[in-house]
Amino acid sequence: MIGDQRERSQRSFRIAGAADCRPITVRSKAVVTYADTADGVSPSDLDGFFVGWPSAPTRERRLSLLQQSDAVALAFDGASLVGFATAISDGVLAGFIPFLEVLPEHQGQGIGSRLIERLLGQLDDLYMVDVVCDAALERFYARFGFTTLDRGMGLRRRDRIR
Ligand SMILES: CC(C)(COP(=O)(O)OP(=O)(O)OC[C@H]1O[C@@H](n2cnc3c(N)ncnc32)[C@H](O)[C@@H]1OP(=O)(O)O)[C@@H](O)C(=O)NCCC(=O)NCCS
Repeated sequence: MIGDQRERSQRSFRIAGAADCRPITVRSKAVVTYADTADGVSPSDLDGFFVGWPSAPTRERRLSLLQQSDAVALAFDGASLVGFATAISDGVLAGFIPFLEVLPEHQGQGIGSRLIERLLGQLDDLYMVDVVCDAALERFYARFGFTTLDRGMGLRRRDRIR
């Protein structure tokens, strides 16, 4: 379990002075909490990510990419992992963000933004931080100071995903 998680809470209240004082139960919505380590995460926590990938990495390799990254930010809804971002870096000048994922049912709630903020906080000393993204996400990354570069190239070897 991650240290700074907050659990779902269920409390009973009595309204002072009310004639009929039957307790009412209020089930509050879980708070999304964040961590900067993959300690305590297990492979099965990573089911449900990599939606739409023609071939996705196994859950064990998903955990390895969290554990072996130089920086991570993780989001939890209660005890459930609902999002993560990873960075690799030389620790001197350069960093790269290979993965940012939020479970589909948790998207659109600011979790992806918070993950990037937390990751950039860990990479604050670096001169350059790069990300490769679809054109549709350029506005998302621009909010954190990213600018579209003139050119970039990448090598993709899909047979290495397993
Ligand atoms: C990209 C992703 C991580 C965003 O997570 P999220 O928790 O939904 O992000 P936020 O709620 O912080 O969204 C912030 C803004 O970005 C926009 N946005 C989010 N995902 C978007 C997408 N795929 N395309 C275009 N805009 C997007 C949202 O509409 C929102 O804009 P608004 O504030 O004007 O409404 C999530 O959509 C995801 O996991 N996508 C699949 C994996 C992926 O594409 N990862 C990015 C790799 S570079």
